[in-house]
Amino acid sequence: MPDPQSEQGTSDSSPRAAAESNGAPFDTVVIVGRGGYGAAPREELDRVVSTLAGAGCYRDVRYAFMEQGKPALPAVLEECMAAGARRLLIVPALVPMDATLRWWLPLAIRDWVRENVAEDAMEVVLAPPLGDSEYLGEAVSAAVTDVHNCVEVRDDPNITDRERSWNLIPAHGRQVFLCHGPRCTLANAPKTWAYFQEKLRDSRLRGEQGVMTVRTGCLYPCDLGPMMVVHPDGTWYGGVDEAAVDRIVAEHLVDGEAVPEYACVPGAPARSRPGSEGS
Ligand code: FES
Repeated sequence: MPDPQSEQGTSDSSPRAAAESNGAPFDTVVIVGRGGYGAAPREELDRVVSTLAGAGCYRDVRYAFMEQGKPALPAVLEECMAAGARRLLIVPALVPMDATLRWWLPLAIRDWVRENVAEDAMEVVLAPPLGDSEYLGEAVSAAVTDVHNCVEVRDDPNITDRERSWNLIPAHGRQVFLCHGPRCTLANAPKTWAYFQEKLRDSRLRGEQGVMTVRTGCLYPCDLGPMMVVHPDGTWYGGVDEAAVDRIVAEHLVDGEAVPEYACVPGAPARSRPGSEGS
């Protein structure tokens, strides 16, 4: 039976009304974006958070990144738990969401909950991916009709060339790649990266004999992550946490000797995460 209110054009389709009609069963919502560096990805998700928080239905609304950006999902889940979340909804705002992530994300969150949340302390619920929502088409339709914010690209004065040396390879002796794919991100790769950068600054490992560092997407042996690769030496490291960084910087990058406790041999599966007990 049609809703008489909507027939008269008076129904309220705001997030608050939608949440209230569903009984707003969650106190906390975490929007998960794909990732990206710099301010722009954070600003985008900030706007989504503001809209949802503005509805006034949730005690706490935050965003997290799935990969290659901070704050990473595990860190945000920990913050929510510390802030007293009791019923938390995770909304994957990844469009499109590939088949591997559809399978992996529920699994990774389940494992995080089992490892970190005491029974009855916090309920964690996962919403369907945004791409499955019938409202995604409506959102895209709204963007298409938002002509005031569209730009004609040929002569737009706001599109400027950047004065950057995109044709210059920085001087370096070694390249170090630290994986920031989804699984390594969940295993705290962003924290490892921040610590690694600090150590490099302290050790003055820049310049011609120094180290060029790059964050990468998935390097494949996800279960051993966070993964690091040092070239031209061809050394793979797994389970790279702060303790591993201390040793890799001091022993490998400064003294030139690989650190066997964290090294992985390509083609030889490790029994467990290097550096952990029983490896
Ligand atoms: S996500 Fe890092 S190896 Fe796959």
